[in-house]
Amino acid sequence: MTVDSTHDTVLRDEAVAALVGDSAGIYVDGTFGRGGHSRAILARLSETGRLIGIDRDAEAAVYAARLGEEDARFSFIRAAFSGWGAALAEQGVEAPIDGVLFDLGVSSPQLDQADRGFSFRFDGPLDMRMDQGRGPSAADWLAVAEEEDIRDVLFRLGEERFARRIAAAIVERRRERPFIRTRDLVDCVIGAIPRRDPNKHPATRTFQAIRLFINDELEEITRALEQSLAHLAPGGRLVVISFHSLEDRIVKRFMRDHSTAGKDFFGNPTGPVALKRIGKAIRAGADEVRRNPRARSAIMRVAERAA
Ligand SMILES: C[S@@+](CC[C@H](N)C(=O)[O-])C[C@H]1O[C@@H](n2cnc3c(N)ncnc32)[C@H](O)[C@@H]1O
Repeated sequence: MTVDSTHDTVLRDEAVAALVGDSAGIYVDGTFGRGGHSRAILARLSETGRLIGIDRDAEAAVYAARLGEEDARFSFIRAAFSGWGAALAEQGVEAPIDGVLFDLGVSSPQLDQADRGFSFRFDGPLDMRMDQGRGPSAADWLAVAEEEDIRDVLFRLGEERFARRIAAAIVERRRERPFIRTRDLVDCVIGAIPRRDPNKHPATRTFQAIRLFINDELEEITRALEQSLAHLAPGGRLVVISFHSLEDRIVKRFMRDHSTAGKDFFGNPTGPVALKRIGKAIRAGADEVRRNPRARSAIMRVAERAA
């Protein structure tokens, strides 16, 4: 079963207010999804403002094409956001950017469509790739990965305390039958764990870990953040919305490290800082969480490129 789903944009107004300073500026929405943030950004821009959307998902590209037809200020690049600077240059956008937004993770349609294989709630092919044209699917990886690599992924990216048992059960099962469907993995995890947390589906952490691994999500974030230093104009804004602690830790450290000067032997700052942190981390308010439970774990951080 698959449920019909749209994407409820998280922290929409807060993100756009933090991102857009100059209404005639050039902005990048690095995670177009269904375009919720993009539409709100365009509503803030003047006739001469410009917005470039990026996403690696083929369906996101279809929605983006529609927006491009409606609004000439918008254009779209289908790419991984780790290469956003180069992707812009290829499209002839050389000017420094006035703001870039990353609303991380998967969209609700990706999660809710059984045939994408992201969710333990729906039975579908065990795929989990955001870009289905690239790299191995989750099923392909589970067919060949070493047991210790599976264990490491589950432990590191899922913080799964039963990582060892689950990895052993996966390797045991695949000797008999390959993993093809999400249901195969769910059943294997349920059979492997000794106790169930009443508040969490037993396969939650396993699915999160494998999804992060298959899409190289944490490395993608690191590389995307680094590029903001090269491509943002002085005063340009970097706005990032994360949904779990592994993502947020990377964002928080990046903003902290680049907004704090090193010290020399005498305690003097060693050079200008690249970023200025703006405000505190922002979370969704109670009303938004009531309307959209996914917003509960969202945390938004903002930094500005120093002159
Ligand atoms: C949470 S959704 C964004 C939703 C969007 N802000 C909206 O309001 O509709 C995240 C999107 O980012 C895309 N994405 C995630 N990681 C990506 C990456 N490394 N490169 C490009 N797109 C990525 C996903 O395909 C997904 O469509």
